[in-house]
Amino acid sequence: METVTGEPNPVEAVNSAGGATASAAGSLVGGLQDVGHVELPAGIPVLEMHNLSKRFGAVVACEDVDLQVFGGEIVALAGHNGAGKSTVLKMLSGVLQPDAGELRLIGKPAHLSNVRTARAHGIETVPQELALAPKLSVPANIFLGRELVARPKFLRLRARRRMEEESARLLSSLGVRIPRLRVQAGALSGGQAQGVAIARAVGWGRHVVVLDEPTAALGLRETEQVELTIARMKERGLAILIVSHDLEQMFRLADRIYVMYRGRVVGMERTAETTRERIGALIHGQSERAPQEAG
Ligand SMILES: Nc1ncnc2c1ncn2[C@@H]1O[C@H](COP(=O)(O)OP(=O)(O)OP(=O)(O)O)[C@@H](O)[C@H]1O
Ligand SMILES: [Mg+2]
Repeated sequence: METVTGEPNPVEAVNSAGGATASAAGSLVGGLQDVGHVELPAGIPVLEMHNLSKRFGAVVACEDVDLQVFGGEIVALAGHNGAGKSTVLKMLSGVLQPDAGELRLIGKPAHLSNVRTARAHGIETVPQELALAPKLSVPANIFLGRELVARPKFLRLRARRRMEEESARLLSSLGVRIPRLRVQAGALSGGQAQGVAIARAVGWGRHVVVLDEPTAALGLRETEQVELTIARMKERGLAILIVSHDLEQMFRLADRIYVMYRGRVVGMERTAETTRERIGALIHGQSERAPQEAG
């Protein structure tokens, strides 16, 4: 009996896999988590940062950053160039380690000493710079570094087919349309490539997906498509943290907005209860409310 061992989560065998579920000896190890809803405990934040600080020599990139994200929530991080947004995201994705403070996942302290540890904790990142390997196909990119392992080797073709099927299922569940999965990623449009990068993060992320300026390089229609994908990923129950420079986008997507100014969080607002003017003022370092707004 063929078995599929989940790492991190088991995948249901795909019945339409042209016999992939048949009783051939051997196994495929690995696989994307099932494309469904992610169950995370309600009531406690999935992600918490307490007094996180990071400096580079004399430059204080982040100081005493407090931030929380719940499951099924999109939180935006706003701020001028150099405010510290990417530094916060890099501490989350294990690229940088904080000098002080604590990071908690579902209530437990987490030490993300490198990118692999962060991934093992269910945190996936879509970085500011494009992330795909241009020479590889779409499925090869989605499974990059986490390929299904075929044992014995004659199952390799089957593993490849399985990765294609899982990729197709994942992409369609997020509304990402790629006509031919076997094309090299370098031939995709910017929006398609970003869709694939987001899908990869959603497919492997169990807790948190982090997006740094996901639509900065895209045109209007591609931005719309990527925003739809982000909205679908929220429906899956993940905690989503997104850096954006686009105020309108934050108001379209986010439930809450944190604003950073010179390394500090200077405000947190619920999108439904705040204004663009208020967020704009915070971004410019004016954290005092005007007298008529206060109270
Ligand atoms: N590796 C580094 N070495 C030295 N200084 C750094 C490093 N990374 C970031 N900084 C500094 O830390 C501060 C915060 O940078 P960060 O990249 O987090 O800002 P940001 O809010 O993401 O800006 P942007 O909107 O331009 O992406 C800046 O002053 C930046 O120059
Ligand atoms: Mg940045």
